[in-house]
Amino acid sequence: MKQFLKDVLQDLGETPKRLNSKYFYDHTGDGIFQQIMNCEEYYPTNCELEIFQHKTTELARVLKNGFDTFDLIEMGAGDATKSSYLLKEMLRKKFDFTYMPIDISADMIGHLEKQLPEEIPGLKVKGLNGEYFEMLTHASQISPKRKVILFLGGTIGNFETNAALDFCRELRSYLQKGDVLMIGFDLKKHPDVIRKAYNDAQGFTRAFNLNLLNRINRELGGNFVLEQFDHYPSYDPATGACRSYLISLAKQEVCIEGKVFTFEKDEYISMEISQKYSVEETESMAFNSGFKPVNHFFDSRHWFLDTVWQCE
Ligand code: AVI
Repeated sequence: MKQFLKDVLQDLGETPKRLNSKYFYDHTGDGIFQQIMNCEEYYPTNCELEIFQHKTTELARVLKNGFDTFDLIEMGAGDATKSSYLLKEMLRKKFDFTYMPIDISADMIGHLEKQLPEEIPGLKVKGLNGEYFEMLTHASQISPKRKVILFLGGTIGNFETNAALDFCRELRSYLQKGDVLMIGFDLKKHPDVIRKAYNDAQGFTRAFNLNLLNRINRELGGNFVLEQFDHYPSYDPATGACRSYLISLAKQEVCIEGKVFTFEKDEYISMEISQKYSVEETESMAFNSGFKPVNHFFDSRHWFLDTVWQCE
């Protein structure tokens, strides 16, 4: 049985019901996510872009960490818009490095391998298509060089806090003392700003959530009626958890591969967490997973943090 089906059957069988937001990103989901990133309310992309555009020189210096030569590995590179500022600066400074983007999308990796060296002459690119940790193992097998890892976009926030810590610990186990990680955290801020970012006026975030039901219908032969579910975003300033839910608007049954799931009226499916952190919480996470935080890069409003951790 394919993993997507297995996970969906398992997660909808839980009480309360849930789905894993990593499945948001099919072809349609990728497109909707682009729309989210371009919409006015969704601030994290612009914050991080500001850091990469305005702190480039310092970023490049800190990430080089005195290495003569290194591999710059980006986990979940996407179209590498933000990192391209850093890549240009590193080349301008004549750093000796290979850019290794990791992405689950083979199309994206193919595109980066072709496009980036055209756009940034002299750049060495080795794309790695697959899961993060498998590709990190692969990167170490094909190159003995020091590793500088980028994990941007605040994607760490899509893990529950305990799972985020486990993830950082596991990541640390693939690295060596002295290697460097730059990781992006969305920070706690006025709750209204956060709630609006996950409840945009044009309904992109709503469509992003509902698209997963559509994907289940398309790929797993489900029969969700999308009009029977409502998107409900929430943010709790006490915990920093920004969560999205889909609410069943009626008592209904949904069938997926012969398995029937009953939804009560007003029952929710937990769809996604986008955890917000304080700077202190990010530092504790570093120390508790075998890293030492060595630099903080903020945008001008201090809404987002790209922090540099060194392997202890
Ligand atoms: C990819 N990730 C960091 C986004 C976030 O902010 O949690 C995904 C997203 N979900 C709704 N809007 C954007």
